[in-house]
Amino acid sequence: MSTITIEALTKRYSRVTALDQLTVDVPEGVCGLVGANGAGKSTLIKILLGLSTPTAGRASVLGYDIASHGPEIRQLVGYMPEHDCLPPDVSAAEFVMHMARISGLPTGAARERTADTLRHVGLMEERYRRMGGYSTGMKQRVKLAQALVHDPKLVFLDEPTNGLDPVGRDEMLDLIRRIHTKFGISVLVTSHLLGELERTSDHVIIIDGGRLLKSRSTGELTSQTHTLILEVLDPAGGADAADRAQASLEASGLGVRRAGELMYVPATDESTFDSIRDTVAHAGLGLVRLQRDRHHIAEIFAENTPEGSQDHVVTG
Ligand SMILES: Nc1ncnc2c1ncn2[C@@H]1O[C@H](COP(=O)(O)OP(=O)(O)OP(=O)(O)O)[C@@H](O)[C@H]1O
Ligand SMILES: [Mg+2]
Repeated sequence: MSTITIEALTKRYSRVTALDQLTVDVPEGVCGLVGANGAGKSTLIKILLGLSTPTAGRASVLGYDIASHGPEIRQLVGYMPEHDCLPPDVSAAEFVMHMARISGLPTGAARERTADTLRHVGLMEERYRRMGGYSTGMKQRVKLAQALVHDPKLVFLDEPTNGLDPVGRDEMLDLIRRIHTKFGISVLVTSHLLGELERTSDHVIIIDGGRLLKSRSTGELTSQTHTLILEVLDPAGGADAADRAQASLEASGLGVRRAGELMYVPATDESTFDSIRDTVAHAGLGLVRLQRDRHHIAEIFAENTPEGSQDHVVTG
């Protein structure tokens, strides 16, 4: 089921076309919206929230038309904006509580939800400190907490990993995943890094210059290929193990593509596994790894064919 449907959505500013006839459906679950700087990600989110009006086209969010039902949509959707927007002299507890009250929760429920969401994002200890003294990672967590506090059905997270170090990035991606698995909330999350959304998202939409490039489930994107990947070693310590394996495999009639120590062999069927094992053993070498290669999401950046045209995912 789709949480969002977008039809020929266009947004023109005086000098640029931020969205250009964008048509795509966003399914339930965690959906990544990927694009380079200026691709139109934030523009799309603002239009879906009813904060900005499109030049042409239409869209609906959770069944509500954006043109006529902005308030209903904003009641059901949480929004984590891209830029820093936190008042420095207020604590996270006060701020999130305030946002809960603005959303219409009665005081008791607001207090409870504030504690729950701050716990979820890992900010319980520091919740009474003023936010001006927070690190970027802590600020991103408060922004996430305020998006969740009114128990939305769907959240829009605009670049939640911005400014985070690799550990902070991983923690944020795990938190996002849990928003869906633990609370059943659907997520639309933007990033300019395709790779980081591979693990978190059920589905990925890629836009470029306001146009749709790809819309795929990550399962489909990272599905197994018909290529086997293998790595060998010489138990006697010889340094030319990969060269020898390659020569033996080729002599057995198998096609081999090399990338450093790794070898890629096209598999006809399961028997290719046996042929490789036997050939490598016969050459006096050991197998360190033999597995099916997988597609990697980042590979589809290699060929920027727009959706609908001839397209294939490059394999390892
Ligand atoms: N209010 C505005 N007035 C004029 N042009 C705008 C406005 N907002 C966005 N744009 C332009 O629209 C295009 C898309 O911008 P948008 O902020 O949606 O991109 P983005 O994908 O969110 O980029 P980033 O990764 O940098 O956040 C850009 O060329 C931007 O300069
Ligand atoms: Mg943006």
